[in-house]
Amino acid sequence: MDPVIVRVVSLKKSYGPVRALDGISFEVGRGRIFGLLGPNGAGKTTAVRILTTLTRPDDGTAEIAGADVLANPAKVRSLIGYVPQELTVDPYLTAAEHLRYYADLYHLAGAAWETRTRELLALLGLAGQEGRRVRHFSGGMKKKLDLACGFLHRPPLMVLDEPSLGLDVQVRHDVWRYIEQLRDQGTTVFLCTNYMDEAERLCDEVAIIDRGRIAALGTPAALRSNLKRDVISVEVSASHDHHAEKLAALERAVAGLDLVRETMKDGTQLKIYVEQNELALPQILSSAAALSVPIHAISYSRPGLDEVFLHYTGHSFAEGNEHHG
Ligand SMILES: Nc1ncnc2c1ncn2[C@@H]1O[C@H](COP(=O)(O)OP(=O)(O)OP(=O)(O)O)[C@@H](O)[C@H]1O
Ligand SMILES: [Mg+2]
Repeated sequence: MDPVIVRVVSLKKSYGPVRALDGISFEVGRGRIFGLLGPNGAGKTTAVRILTTLTRPDDGTAEIAGADVLANPAKVRSLIGYVPQELTVDPYLTAAEHLRYYADLYHLAGAAWETRTRELLALLGLAGQEGRRVRHFSGGMKKKLDLACGFLHRPPLMVLDEPSLGLDVQVRHDVWRYIEQLRDQGTTVFLCTNYMDEAERLCDEVAIIDRGRIAALGTPAALRSNLKRDVISVEVSASHDHHAEKLAALERAVAGLDLVRETMKDGTQLKIYVEQNELALPQILSSAAALSVPIHAISYSRPGLDEVFLHYTGHSFAEGNEHHG
């Protein structure tokens, strides 16, 4: 079996003068959680609408398990489960009626349906609400019901556009765990997100999309470590003047090390930007020992996906959101 389930090549789509997708290409491996991460208006939903055959591309190709979205849309739809960004629930139906409707749609029979329904209602905190009409639900509850309906069946590819939009923190984490379970049981998950933490925590692989282009692609860990901007921060206590001198001496010493890219001293704190924390840290500590630097605290951290976004697009994620409002 082809290890690639989604294959997108040079996909383009414009709406009048707006280039929603400006030639994006990527592949999604079977059994992975793949995230399209980008600010508002980046083109995520447009990409998803092409993959789910709801919109035609202007140029380029998209295939699901070898089936082309234009040549073979029925096959494509049979392979995909889709929970759109916009709510799809009907205000005049109850939660139970929605679940029953989708169960019929997916040909789910008795026991399997009942177990899964109960499991999903509990997971999403909707247990006990089955009999209520959706028009009395809060926005978050409607989103939860949408997810429950989408999760009823087990297609090879689950497409989720902003799955945790509007959910409270606890349910968000539960949904993430559920998505991981789906993956572990063999479902491939393709999701769009506005949230750095969601991409970082959940996705095996992330494509950062900005203004219709893929700016970077890789595992969250690789995207971060490719930046070569791990930071080690050394602090001395403020109680003695000579501590600051010691820190200045340390700065001069480490600036000459191969793995150190940049240093920045701010009062009693020295920030050292390095290529590889694991290797740089022992070298920095031995320099500090040789100079008898009285270290008060030391910490190190990796750059986040927000820094990755800034690095590859030249502007911040929040700015991207403002840009498209
Ligand atoms: N049906 C449409 N008609 C006109 N313009 C559209 C249409 N759909 C999308 N666009 C435009 O295409 C661009 C990409 O929109 P898209 O919905 O794909 O972004 P997104 O990344 O999903 O954003 P969000 O995070 O807000 O959901 C935007 O500039 C949007 O205004
Ligand atoms: Mg969208």
